[in-house]
Amino acid sequence: MNRFRGWMLSLTLIGSLALSACGGGNSNGQAGASPSESASSPPASSQEASSAPPAGNKQVEIFSWWTGAGEEAGLKALIQLFKEKEPDIEVINAAVAGGAGTNAKAVLASRMQGGDPPGTFQVHGGAELNAGWVAAGKMEPINDLYEAEGWTDKFPQDLIDMVSSDGSIWSVPVNIHRGNVLWYNKKVFDENGLKAPTTFDEFFEVAEALKAKGVTPLALGDKEPWAATHLFETVLLGTLGADGYRQLWTGELSFEDAKVTEALETFKKMMGYVNEDHAARNWQDASQLVANGEAAMNVMGDWAKGYFSGDLQLEANVDFGYAPTPGTEGMFMVITDTFGLPKGISDPDSVKAFLKVLGSVEGQDAFNPLKGSIPARTDADVSKYDVYGKETMEDFKSAALTPSLAHGSAASEGFLTQANQVINIFVTNGDVNQAVQGFKQAASAELN
Ligand code: GAL
Repeated sequence: MNRFRGWMLSLTLIGSLALSACGGGNSNGQAGASPSESASSPPASSQEASSAPPAGNKQVEIFSWWTGAGEEAGLKALIQLFKEKEPDIEVINAAVAGGAGTNAKAVLASRMQGGDPPGTFQVHGGAELNAGWVAAGKMEPINDLYEAEGWTDKFPQDLIDMVSSDGSIWSVPVNIHRGNVLWYNKKVFDENGLKAPTTFDEFFEVAEALKAKGVTPLALGDKEPWAATHLFETVLLGTLGADGYRQLWTGELSFEDAKVTEALETFKKMMGYVNEDHAARNWQDASQLVANGEAAMNVMGDWAKGYFSGDLQLEANVDFGYAPTPGTEGMFMVITDTFGLPKGISDPDSVKAFLKVLGSVEGQDAFNPLKGSIPARTDADVSKYDVYGKETMEDFKSAALTPSLAHGSAASEGFLTQANQVINIFVTNGDVNQAVQGFKQAASAELN
């Protein structure tokens, strides 16, 4: 049985996103870099893209937003493995910096519209893929690859459903990230005799105690507005429960519901406990506050784990602790990064060769321990993962799965763009009624 219950089915009803996904707009609701601006300040790794090989050579261009701390180590390990397997195929790492695709999504939209698709690109399973690029007719089905590799029973059915529509499979999931994680500094918690809060009441008690000690209770870095939306969706989940949260995306629950207002009030109260400079920091900068004890907690997807244990060399359950965000025990906000085969590319065989490695046990186990995510495959080598990874794999098997809004699965890019704007304004003015009306408007334009 599909553990997303109902939501997946409703995806097929979401029709309005194809256009908005291809509109070239910044999906994160900020002015953002235009494709040309991004091109003028490319991230280090995209330098590799400038040296195109002589015509006739085999190559695969991999487009993502995985650059910099906590993001690129997994990708590099995967590329390294691919190079070992396929030394004749040149890899072009065309990553565009910016968390959650802040800039990359706009660059991608521009390239897809201009008839210049990358060989393969990072895309979230769910609405972003199916109602976006697939509905727009920009992708090739890859059922043959799944059959040839024997993958149909190697990935959980829930995940295959997230990358399928119209009877075809459109991409290969490389990972499963969990979005509803509260990270905390162990030393700060231990020294103050605190336990990870499991409810919102406990959260505010802990936050008060920390504030009294002069420690910033909650770190936030919403320079890229998606980070605030990310926090808010976990509050929505903790307030509405898995069923109620899913119903928001199927239209069964209105944004005018009292529970949504309650979630907004809770989120607003949380804003009273964040670092003053939150609008100047990105997610890594916010995680760093927790790592060095200036702040006690933050809410972020488990790419933060990749950052803590990779770049910052911290150990799970020793230096940092983790728990489901308040009210979300037994729930799992699913974020899956996937890669597919765009239409009209020059060397589809090389892309399929890359997808084959990305979807293999070896590929997943090279990528995920560094990225902080768990493997999408069910038969990966558990011993390669730390205590956090092992526990998360177990949680995934039994938890109620819910699709992330901030990371493209729950709703269209059009809705997400507007939601990011609504939250961004709400963080500044705290006007609950205005936020409800903003969501309502976005839902009527983009959800049904
Ligand atoms: C998400 C993506 C993750 C991670 C994160 C921060 O959208 O799925 O893999 O990269 O953004 O950039």
